[in-house]
Amino acid sequence: MPEVLDQTALKQQAAEAAVAEVRDGMVLGLGTGSTAALAVAILGARVKAGLRIVGIPTSERTAEQALALGIPLASFAEHTSIDLTIDGADEVHTGTLDLIKGLGGALLREKIVAAASRRMTVIVDESKLVPTLGGVRLPVEIAAFGWQATLAHLHDAGADVLVRQGADGALFHTDGGNLIADCAFAAIADPAALHSRLKAIVGVVETGLFVGMATRVIAGTQAGPRILEL
Ligand code: A5P
Repeated sequence: MPEVLDQTALKQQAAEAAVAEVRDGMVLGLGTGSTAALAVAILGARVKAGLRIVGIPTSERTAEQALALGIPLASFAEHTSIDLTIDGADEVHTGTLDLIKGLGGALLREKIVAAASRRMTVIVDESKLVPTLGGVRLPVEIAAFGWQATLAHLHDAGADVLVRQGADGALFHTDGGNLIADCAFAAIADPAALHSRLKAIVGVVETGLFVGMATRVIAGTQAGPRILEL
């Protein structure tokens, strides 16, 4: 009987395949989340073995991990263009490669990094691949000021909305000091239209809909890495 790989092994498979694309001299966007953390760990080992890259992290968490592994970090002050970003996702539309991201609370920085990247490789286990987005709540980053009013506007836009709280019940704050509204919608048929509608609400900083940003998706599967490209 072939060994059944657990979710972590599938994430590891995707992370290894993505890091294999990294070459000397690259400016790399370093994603956030458990799958991206596996990629950063593999990168750290390659840097120790002599790979020369600089990373631009998408969160304080990732910056801390990268620094502990000896991965040199840079910022947009030095590089406004990124060669490749490797990041996870919460859902991947298999037809368009549109994404839902932000369950880890880093979506604004993740999107700024993705938008500055020539290529974005998304790493997931196969459970994240879906034919239609919307099976998970859509994280929307909102300003802390007046958040109750912004939540009411999101509700009016058709969302069943919850403000994110930590385990202690306190409001969750992003690295940028914002809050996250986790929005449940019926199936998202037109992610670009929904994104535009939500971005037009005062108080919305960014949505977790990443439309047209991923250039490649690597999904860990029981049969080995599955590559999706447009
Ligand atoms: C972080 O804000 C998210 O966008 C993550 O990329 C996403 O939640 C995937 O995380 P996992 O790899 O932990 O599932």
